[in-house]
Amino acid sequence: MIVEWFKYLSTPCMPYARKMGYLTEAIAMQSRHKRCYRQWQSHFQSCQNAILEAVSQCQQNRHLVIMGAGSLADIPLAQLAEKFQQVDLVDLVFLKPARQTAKQYANVTLIEADVSGVLSQVCVGEKTNPDKAYWLPDQLGQVDAVVSLNLATQLPLIPVRWLMKHFEMSEAAADRLGKSLIEAHLKQLNEFSGVKCLIADRQIQEYNAEGTLLDQFDAAWDICLPDLSSAWDWEVIPLGESVHKTRQINRVGVSIWG
Ligand SMILES: C[S@@+](CC[C@H](N)C(=O)[O-])C[C@H]1O[C@@H](n2cnc3c(N)ncnc32)[C@H](O)[C@@H]1O
Repeated sequence: MIVEWFKYLSTPCMPYARKMGYLTEAIAMQSRHKRCYRQWQSHFQSCQNAILEAVSQCQQNRHLVIMGAGSLADIPLAQLAEKFQQVDLVDLVFLKPARQTAKQYANVTLIEADVSGVLSQVCVGEKTNPDKAYWLPDQLGQVDAVVSLNLATQLPLIPVRWLMKHFEMSEAAADRLGKSLIEAHLKQLNEFSGVKCLIADRQIQEYNAEGTLLDQFDAAWDICLPDLSSAWDWEVIPLGESVHKTRQINRVGVSIWG
């Protein structure tokens, strides 16, 4: 607990991201990764393979952008830094290990940014249109590949929870905002002219200790995502992790298009 508190105080982070809980979430994810190393490792390896498959389709290897880079554990950074002239890793929060890893490569840059572009408004309860706000790199035309890495279905979660808790947002409005954030993210990916790679949860399933399916739902808020090229199951919450004695398995899918 003291270690986590120290990380919270010592990690640089945009004020609204800290206030809304993104830093706390990143620290919790780091701790869970350590506890669930065995279950998470094959997911990380599959993500790395998918990224390598996507970038093998690039015509040129000038500039790669990865959104949702986070811990970097699901990124084959050494190979990508070797292949591309410039690698930009984008996320709201980078903890110390990610910063140290990135520093080892002269052509890798960490960009702390809100890819949805709406969070500073959401934080103060202002109405916002995600369709117009999303982040794009300065040299968009130079980017030969863009990866959205376990990010698309995460984009609505904290904003919607925040607005419902602090600004009395209705369930219907929350549903509309959640869907529009995912739709805007797909539009954002399509602004890039090179290879696009979307790695995202497709379905979430919850099981009890006896293996009975308790609940399942569409991770993408019923927004239609591009066709799958591969998929796997990720045991995000193994039995021992959950106070309710349940397991959560996410079906993760990869889409690659030109
Ligand atoms: C499920 S994690 C995946 C991170 C990373 N790929 C990994 O496995 O460590 C989702 C990531 O999305 C980031 N994220 C969520 N909303 C974001 C936003 N609006 N802009 C930029 N990053 C965001 C979080 O900070 C987090 O690192």
